Parts: sequence; C-alpha cells; structure tokens
Amino acid sequence: MIAINEKWALVTGASRGIGQEIAIALSKLGCNLVLHSRSVERTSALAEQILANGVRAVSLEADLSDPAQVKELLSEIANAAPHIDILYNNAAIMMPYHDDVWEIPAEEFRKSFETNVISQIKICNALIPSMIERRWGRVINLISGINEQPQLAPYAISKAAFEKFTHDLAPLLENSEVSINTLDPGWLKTDMGSQEAPNSVDSVIPGALVPALLSHSISGREFKAQDYAGMSIEQALQKAEHKN
Ligand SMILES: NC(=O)c1ccc[n+]([C@@H]2O[C@H](COP(=O)([O-])OP(=O)(O)OC[C@H]3O[C@@H](n4cnc5c(N)ncnc54)[C@H](OP(=O)(O)O)[C@@H]3O)[C@@H](O)[C@H]2O)c1
Repeated sequence: MIAINEKWALVTGASRGIGQEIAIALSKLGCNLVLHSRSVERTSALAEQILANGVRAVSLEADLSDPAQVKELLSEIANAAPHIDILYNNAAIMMPYHDDVWEIPAEEFRKSFETNVISQIKICNALIPSMIERRWGRVINLISGINEQPQLAPYAISKAAFEKFTHDLAPLLENSEVSINTLDPGWLKTDMGSQEAPNSVDSVIPGALVPALLSHSISGREFKAQDYAGMSIEQALQKAEHKN
C-alpha cells in the first residue's frame, strides 16, 4: 500500500455523499485535502473534522457548470496547495427524470456536459502535467453503471463520455507513475442516488481508495467500489492486485 501521508488530494464535490466519504477516509491515512463544493460553507464542518485528524484541509468553491468559476478554481488550487498528488473528479449533477424522453431540453445535455465532462477535463488538464513532472499522481474519475435509462440521458451520456476520456488518456500515462482510472461507486443512498438505493454511502470505502493506494501505477482500469464493500483496505488492495 502506498503511504499517502504528506500528499495532497483534491476531492471535487466533497460537501456530501461519496465525496465526503472519500475525503474523510483519505484524511485518516494522513493525506492533506483540498475540499471542493459550490460553497465553502458547505465544507467548513468537514474541514474541521479533517483537521482533527492532524492533516491540512482547505475549502474552495466553484460551480462547475460555469467556465469562469472553473478558471478561478484552478488558480485558487495552485495557491491552496503546494501540489495535487491525488485527484478525485467526483462532483456531478443529474438532471430530473423525464418520462417523455423525446422532450428532454437540449440545455440539460449542455449543462450536464459542461459540469460532468468539460470542467472535469479542464481540471485534469491543469493538474496531470505537473503530476507527470513530479513522477507521481493518481487520478480517479467517478463514472456510473447507469444503463438503458434514456429518461436520464443527459447524465448517463455525460458519464459515458467521461469514461471514454479516461480510457483514451490511459496509454499516454504509461511509465509516468501517474495513473488514471475510473471508479463506479455502485448505487448508493445519497442525494443523487436517493434513499431507494440498495447500498449505504459508507460502502464506497475502502473500494474508492483502491485506485489511489495501489503500489504500482496502472491506468485505464474500471474499479467498482462495491467489489470491496465490507473489506479492510489491506484485503481490498490484495483483491485488486490479484485482478491484474
Ligand atoms: N449515488 C450514486 O448512486 C452514484 C452512482 C453512480 C455514480 N455516482 C457518481 O458519484 C459521484 C458523487 O455522487 P453523489 O451521489 O455523492 O452525489 P451528491 O450526493 O449529489 O453530491 C454531489 C456533490 O457534487 C457537488 N456538486 C453538485 N453540483 C455541482 C456543481 N454544479 N458544481 C460543483 N459541484 C457540484 C455537490 O456540492 P454542493 O454542496 O455544492 O451541492 C456535492 O458535493 C458523482 O460523480 C456521481 O455521478 C453516484
């Protein structure tokens, strides 16, 4: 298992749900955190909790549907942390369910792509080159197993596009000690997943940590957090190593 104490992680969408679970779990391993959401107030209690784990925590805000705010966020990240070693592109939006799939407004596709794809690509573009220079980095892009639900097409196809981006970038990072992988968290009880989901939000740990903690850098793999539910981190890493 890679030691991540002293490293810095950026978790987008850290104010609740899966992002919050990931941020807390990373801090327990000694990792410093940049916590992102749309308002610093939404991560202030989490930052306090994380500071109590003896690491540093900084809150930043940006609406990822707004290119101007994303630009501002990227310059603030550079000032908030000496470097970002681990990136969880976790924030995302899901538009309302449309019974009439033929009438989904084009604007919902545009906003979903701006937020769930284009902004996340900008964050990758801003942070991965310096990871390559420092010869270490872990990028984990949150995708979804959503399938055959055209009523949620703006969300589903934006996630598919982000998955394709991740997959196609992977060979470029070969031998760089920087990895890029996708993470399917499973269907979880969160604001986005709803209370109908079969899995509790904390079941995303330890699986969500696996792509960050694997000792060798492997890219282009899809990690499914639910494959590791109920395991210790050590057991999860052992299982992931065996899958190679
Ligand atoms: N839950 C599931 O069942 C499930 C299944 C498959 C994949 N996923 C993926 O897992 C990730 C996290 O999902 P979740 O269930 O934890 O979602 P969630 O509970 O709805 O939380 C979403 C997070 O993203 C932030 N966010 C929302 N809109 C934003 C915007 N326009 N700009 C910037 N940040 C924004 C929120 O911050 P604010 O406090 O500012 O709103 C919040 O921190 C997403 O990528 C999702 O697609 C979830």
